[in-house]
Amino acid sequence: MAERPIRMGMIGGGTEAFIGGVHRMAARLDDSMRLVAGALSSTPARSMESGRALGLQPDRCYGTWSDMLAKEAALPEHERMEAVVIVAPNDVHAPAATAALEAGFHVVCDKPLAVSTDEADALVAAQQASGRVFAVTYNYTGYPMVRQARHVVRSGGIGAVRRVMVEYLQGWLATPLEQSGHKQAGWRTDPARAGAGVLGDIGSHAENLMTFVTGLTASEICSDVSTHVAGRAVEDDASVLLRFGGGAVGSLTASQVCPGSRNGLSLRIWGERGGLVWHQERPCELLQTSLEGPDVVHRAGDPELAPVAADACRLPSGHPEGFIEAFANIYRGAAAAMRAGRDDGEAFGYPDVRDGARGVHFVAAALAASGCGWTRV
Ligand SMILES: NC(=O)c1ccc[n+]([C@@H]2O[C@H](COP(=O)([O-])OP(=O)(O)OC[C@H]3O[C@@H](n4cnc5c(N)ncnc54)[C@H](O)[C@@H]3O)[C@@H](O)[C@H]2O)c1
Repeated sequence: MAERPIRMGMIGGGTEAFIGGVHRMAARLDDSMRLVAGALSSTPARSMESGRALGLQPDRCYGTWSDMLAKEAALPEHERMEAVVIVAPNDVHAPAATAALEAGFHVVCDKPLAVSTDEADALVAAQQASGRVFAVTYNYTGYPMVRQARHVVRSGGIGAVRRVMVEYLQGWLATPLEQSGHKQAGWRTDPARAGAGVLGDIGSHAENLMTFVTGLTASEICSDVSTHVAGRAVEDDASVLLRFGGGAVGSLTASQVCPGSRNGLSLRIWGERGGLVWHQERPCELLQTSLEGPDVVHRAGDPELAPVAADACRLPSGHPEGFIEAFANIYRGAAAAMRAGRDDGEAFGYPDVRDGARGVHFVAAALAASGCGWTRV
């Protein structure tokens, strides 16, 4: 029997926004969740307009997120939204998520979880006090080949991990785009709205991806963080050296000033006996190398995949799936947890509030460590 979709209300994601539309498609792909309410934009008039354009009932289009939380909480239980999806700029995440938990709603929040470590820690405490499900859309963990990579590492397929290299390179902020009135560039380069620059925006994805696959969290780091575009108020390039417990080492590079790089998220891992390579722009392939034998290419949809990867594929091999499908896998897991009434990202397959908070701490540490320990050559 088909599972009932979870009723969701959205904060941000107006018709002019980027990622809100992706969330809506991902939620609908498996009928995991269905949009019933929204406070979709930064002004009441645009919120109502976006709600109408998306076909929401007029009385479920709200001018502000606080109005949505209060009025939805007052509706009969079978009618009111069950989960709040937060896809507004980063400074909205913590206040809206805290209020949503306090009003008894589950939360799906985009990354970075918050704009400061204090906010992130308070959100972890608020989730624990509420017992509600809290998913953070580190969507790259939803790709079948990322789940296969995790399976290979965790089942000992390349031996104990020695080196991890993760990089996330984009070029769209190589010029002072924020000075031209570009909306997404504007808030992303405003420290008050974004918290951090490239580290929070895409470095947080890179940190999450390497930990999701390897199970390793950085225990010590040193970093070199810089701003290349004149007048920009946040960092736009970062190199971080990593040490993990147990002797493994690595590096994380995040930059938005690499012209020609589009969405260049790549992960390379080497263990005692082999390695793994995955590129987000060719998401259906995972290369596995080994000391002993020829290279192996795992492909989405192939019959020999681990169940955890096979379950994340919707189509047979050779039929490319990508960003929206990976996003939908996070929604599928979060919705299952909501139906079960149990916040367990590991069991249901979604990044949780602790993953989100670890990312915020990583960004803060990388910013604080920048420039320490340089030696003249
Ligand atoms: N997971 C991913 O791959 C991914 C990709 C892009 C963005 N994001 C994250 O998603 C969030 C939104 O990013 P975007 O690129 O879609 O931004 P955007 O600027 O395109 O859209 C933001 C939306 O939020 C609305 N908004 C602003 N303040 C609001 C408020 N107080 N109440 C209600 N709505 C409000 C805006 O009107 C707009 O509709 C950010 O946190 C970003 O880091 C995640």
